[in-house]
Amino acid sequence: MKKITLVYFSPTKTTETVLRAITQGLAQSMEISGAEITAVNVTSPKIRGTILAPFDDNDIVLLGAPVYGGRLPADASDFFKKLAASNTPAILIVVYGNREYEDALLELKDVASACGFIPVSGAAFIGEHSFASAQIPIAMNRPDENDLKQAEDFGKKSGYLLKKTKDLKKISALEVPGKFPYKEGIGQGAPDFIKVTELCTSCGICADACPAEAIDAEKGFAAIAAECIRCCACIKACPEQARQMKDGPIKDTARWLNETCSTPKPVQTFFAAEP
Ligand SMILES: Cc1cc2nc3c(=O)[nH]c(=O)nc-3n(C[C@H](O)[C@H](O)[C@H](O)COP(=O)(O)O)c2cc1C
Ligand code: SF4
Ligand code: SF4
Repeated sequence: MKKITLVYFSPTKTTETVLRAITQGLAQSMEISGAEITAVNVTSPKIRGTILAPFDDNDIVLLGAPVYGGRLPADASDFFKKLAASNTPAILIVVYGNREYEDALLELKDVASACGFIPVSGAAFIGEHSFASAQIPIAMNRPDENDLKQAEDFGKKSGYLLKKTKDLKKISALEVPGKFPYKEGIGQGAPDFIKVTELCTSCGICADACPAEAIDAEKGFAAIAAECIRCCACIKACPEQARQMKDGPIKDTARWLNETCSTPKPVQTFFAAEP
């Protein structure tokens, strides 16, 4: 019996939503029941501190991450690099905020291949931009219904390809866009870009949502600039809308994205050719 494992980094949950829709289609086409599906959410620093058991040819693994500056977020790629696989098919997904995904899918393919996975399909989906807000919308509410339908179809097609392929080692190498050497990553550290208003009730939800353990209750739930990865999970998770972007470079970037990236981009999918 085949097992499906989803391994994803997803601070604002758009990547997770896409992976779950893909899994639905994949499980359906491969007749795999819910009991054989495991999700490993590596957004949590505690989970990133663990080591997963090696995968083998009974596993199908979905690897998913958002695009940060045209690359994978370092926290995601550092975790993915620790995975070990042997003859395990992998389905690779990046989710980006309607600007570009540049080298992120290629980087994910290279990382997966180095771990021993055999990439069988890959896709770039669109998610609401982390920097977006009601005042400065960018790709709002994506993935939408149409994106999720395409995610399910992509999962189904990936499943049919796997079912048809007798010997995975003979499948052609998956080709995805991107260039090597990859573009330079966005690096660590961030300007102090979040303000906490008097609406804060000290509930701690933002601190729990933070993938970088960068929020300090002692400091009034402010973000520690040096550790913050700018993911905006805390802003989106706050039930009181007490966290807001300050004026500054990140808010300026959000305004620029709002002006220049308003035309919705299509989902892109890629498949390895069967032998
Ligand atoms: C630091 C940072 C850098 C980003 N860089 C890009 C980018 O290069 N291109 C793009 O289209 N979106 C970019 N985004 C937007 C995210 O890729 C997008 O919102 C994605 O849906 C977030 O995934 P998540 O919901 O799983 O966290 C960036 C977001 C952050 C926080
Ligand atoms: S989630 Fe919002 S209300 Fe709760 S502690 Fe954080 S800033 Fe305050
Ligand atoms: S403090 Fe920074 S890293 Fe933590 S959730 Fe907020 S934006 Fe993300």
